Amino acid sequence: MIPTPHIAATNKNEIAETVLLPGDPLRAKFIADNFLEDVAQFNGTRGMLGYTGTYKGKRISVMGSGMGMPSIGIYSYELIHFYGVKNLIRIGSCGSLQEHVKIRDVIIGMGACTNSNFASQYELPGTYAPIASWELLEKAVHVAKEKGTEVKVGNILSSDIFYDAVPDAWKKWAAMGVMGVEMEAAALYMNAAKAGVNALCILTVSDSLVTHEATTAEERQNTFTKMMEIALELA
Ligand code: HPA
Repeated sequence: MIPTPHIAATNKNEIAETVLLPGDPLRAKFIADNFLEDVAQFNGTRGMLGYTGTYKGKRISVMGSGMGMPSIGIYSYELIHFYGVKNLIRIGSCGSLQEHVKIRDVIIGMGACTNSNFASQYELPGTYAPIASWELLEKAVHVAKEKGTEVKVGNILSSDIFYDAVPDAWKKWAAMGVMGVEMEAAALYMNAAKAGVNALCILTVSDSLVTHEATTAEERQNTFTKMMEIALELA
């Protein structure tokens, strides 16, 4: 079923087996413009820009995922089931839930808790634990070590709510050791698990719910580059 309702590519080959998924489609364009060679755009539907190019000679794609689990749920499902994508790597930002997780840190979601109902579709007789692909996680940690970039690996929270009516709700997740909050990883991990493909979520800490600090645009750009350099090596 290609093109799909949300992705315009008319040939599977237009999209690489490994796709980086920043939330913001303009981030996808920035990555294509600044990190990739021989770039071709494969999507513009709904402004959700997608590009394929090469990085150090290896084919890789990058496309916006949009914000929230429904949005990344749609794009990742179509990439996996209709375009044969095997490795899906979210690159995004998160809010810190822990004193020791500082703004500008790079963190990797080994697991992704959620307050969303996404897993109910699987009709499981219990609670599912969405986790990263071990293969991608191990490789990312190895690459980070080689580059001398410190990464914190652990649990994250994929929340459906940015403006929470219960402002302290995050503290209960923090008490369970969850490092940071974002809004997409759990759906990505579940779609990948159900389809038997690989997913990973790498994040830079853009703000802290603990200290109320936030990064400047310039700082975000610098840490973003560190995260990107890890993600691009996973192609
Ligand atoms: N909440 C949810 N998503 C986020 C946040 C946050 O505080 N910061 C960056 N992404």
